[in-house]
Amino acid sequence: TVLIIDFGSQVTQLIARRVREAGVYSEIVPFQSAEEGFRRLKPKAVILSGGPASAAEADSPRAPDAIFEAGVPVLGICYGQQTLCVQLGGAVEGGHHREFGRAFVEVLKPSPLFEGVWETGQKHQVWMSHGDRVTRLPEGFEVIAASPNAPLAATADEARNYYAVQFHPEVVHTPDGARLLSNFVHKIAGLKGDWTMAAYRDQAIAAIREQVGDGKVICGLSGGVDSSVAALLIHEAIGDQLTCILVDHGLLRKDEAAQVVEMFRGHYNIPLVHVDASDTFIGALEGEADPEKKRKTIGKLFIDVFEAEAKKVGGADFLAQGTLYPDVIESVSFTGGPSVTIKSHHNVGGLPERMNMKLVEPLRELFKDEVRELGKELGLPESFIGRHPFPGPGLAIRLPGGVTRDKIRILQEADAIYLDEIRKAGLYDAIWQAFAVLLPVQTVGVMGDGRTYEFVCALRAVTSVDGMTADFYPFDMEFLGNAATRIINEVRGINRVVYDVTSKPPGTIEWE
Ligand code: XMP
Repeated sequence: TVLIIDFGSQVTQLIARRVREAGVYSEIVPFQSAEEGFRRLKPKAVILSGGPASAAEADSPRAPDAIFEAGVPVLGICYGQQTLCVQLGGAVEGGHHREFGRAFVEVLKPSPLFEGVWETGQKHQVWMSHGDRVTRLPEGFEVIAASPNAPLAATADEARNYYAVQFHPEVVHTPDGARLLSNFVHKIAGLKGDWTMAAYRDQAIAAIREQVGDGKVICGLSGGVDSSVAALLIHEAIGDQLTCILVDHGLLRKDEAAQVVEMFRGHYNIPLVHVDASDTFIGALEGEADPEKKRKTIGKLFIDVFEAEAKKVGGADFLAQGTLYPDVIESVSFTGGPSVTIKSHHNVGGLPERMNMKLVEPLRELFKDEVRELGKELGLPESFIGRHPFPGPGLAIRLPGGVTRDKIRILQEADAIYLDEIRKAGLYDAIWQAFAVLLPVQTVGVMGDGRTYEFVCALRAVTSVDGMTADFYPFDMEFLGNAATRIINEVRGINRVVYDVTSKPPGTIEWE
């Protein structure tokens, strides 16, 4: 295991991913509980992340001394470099303004960190973040790479296996960064790269069997990647001790509920209860236009319906959830202040407390792309694995103004045509998420020789890495024209189509 101590960098998770890509298991702990994490995990190497604090200040966060006493290899990145230097007897000077961006470092000396990747005398692109500067190196350290603005871009004490870099090897803008991190874990820390998805699958199955014994598990299935993979994995582990429940709120994409039923009941033979609760949900949403109230109503009803169905199934001891690693990692907060609620996200949060059940969360250690890989390992078809994200409240938040059965049907039709066009154009995988929104606005049109007065459909497509920020997808006009024509011709109720060219921020991906 590699322990990553998080000092609050925006990109700490990427360090964990790169280490795992090198076939070595890694975990992130916030600096506040680093000592406890170090004792618990007994890591073979430690990486100190970047962060917003200034190591020049006396009360800035530090790595626990236990790490240095244990003599494990340590790699400090950015802030991690600075605190490493300060803690080992060097000095850091503050007061410089921070700067992020592309830079070129020159390799000054051969080093195990660069072995097979960078040769001495060459220059290489890195993503730099320099503000505070190391002004005196600790004893035993020497400079192994430098840039004009960062004379100590990379330093090392090879005898003690301490390495410190000013740039960020974990981001893609440091093109060789992943290989440098791989050198750190393999060549310097001597770890074998034998952490694979196949190994993880066996390990997870054993862990589920041990946790559940001969107990019964219920799992809420949404048709999304996470709950699908969690259900498959648990079914492999304990067979029909698992029952899945699909709460169909009537706000899914066209034919989606049927596809989920066919896949899980038909193909995988997993016990699945399909609850058609559309009357309950749509009834409760009728006349409600406030986005937050819609979200809250759906969240509450979901729990009610799920709980009632779980009681009917009866005797379940465990609730399975597709919780992912990014939801588990405690985020490091420096301000301590509450963050603003932009939208109250709905998934199955709140269920465990209400139902007083033990949780089975077999994906807790995985990132989204790792879940997809595990899905492949379990034979889940690409049509499920590569699916765009879909929000818990479903089409309700794509119907500004209010939900009616009629509007849901119109939106489902338009959305299906739009996605069909995207697939036919081979663009589905290049887009993070694409969907139609039905606006509560009617406009005048002319079709044949008649006047029409129908709704406006907005199309949305974005690129993103994690859904936190996004940009609109730059379709060519011909594609948009074709999609619009098909929607207007084929869907009764829509006579105008517009394309949303807002990025996030300032917009959000969904409209509500
Ligand atoms: P926004 O609209 O906040 O969406 O930019 C970011 C990503 O989150 C999805 N989303 C949700 N997912 N429950 C979910 O499980 C929700 O309530 C929810 N709201 C938004 C959205 O589709 C996008 O991928």
